[in-house]
Amino acid sequence: MIRVCDDLEALSLAAAELFAAEARQAVEARGSFTVALAGGSTPRRTYELLTSAPFRELVPWQNTHIFWGDERCVPDGDIRNNALMARQALLNHVPVPQDQVHPMVCDRSPQEAAVEYEALLRGFFAKDRPQFDLVLLGLGENGHTASLFPGTSVLEEQKHWVASVYVAEEGLHRLTLTAAVINQASLVVFLVSGSAKAPILRNVLKEAQDPHNIPARLIKPIDGGLLWLVDRDAARLLRQRKE
Ligand code: 6PG
Repeated sequence: MIRVCDDLEALSLAAAELFAAEARQAVEARGSFTVALAGGSTPRRTYELLTSAPFRELVPWQNTHIFWGDERCVPDGDIRNNALMARQALLNHVPVPQDQVHPMVCDRSPQEAAVEYEALLRGFFAKDRPQFDLVLLGLGENGHTASLFPGTSVLEEQKHWVASVYVAEEGLHRLTLTAAVINQASLVVFLVSGSAKAPILRNVLKEAQDPHNIPARLIKPIDGGLLWLVDRDAARLLRQRKE
């Protein structure tokens, strides 16, 4: 499903509303809410909105467990660090218990860090399938999402839940949830904003594209929902423009 919002502010408001609704529903149904946050810049405004009324009061933060969809292997204080952005925009301002915040920590080899985060997930979910209630994702102009980059071996990963990947164009290692894990989620929401994303958004939504060239096309939740929250600029090349 695609929802076209007027601009980034409207998109962020819609995302915050969805976050709060999913959180309340999950806690009501199962006593807890598990969410994997997206990195990059698009989600920042959503995170900021969640720290103020009405969302700060609506979200059951005490029962919320925060994970990440991916992380860049940079020092904690590096502005590229996704956990740093989420702490600054959201987590430092809401009462999520610290032991319920699970950043991807890359303080050893990327491979070891991936194994460690997978062990954390397996311990937390304590069952065969890691079913996040909500996974937030962004979309890169080259079709990557989380750190599932075109042409990388992680795209085929079916066994592991977390993988390390070397992104040559950035000269960086990253950690990422695999598509197999993301597709177990109850709801996956892409946040896509800006005119520069229009070409890739159109290509992602076109049926015939090869997912290995456009990894975002690997995201097809098995039982869960998939929502594209996009703004008008990002949607400018889509045939149907819906409110
Ligand atoms: C990351 C993100 C990545 C991001 C896209 C879009 O760590 O880089 O997880 O997948 O969502 O690159 O980034 P922007 O929102 O900054 O355009």
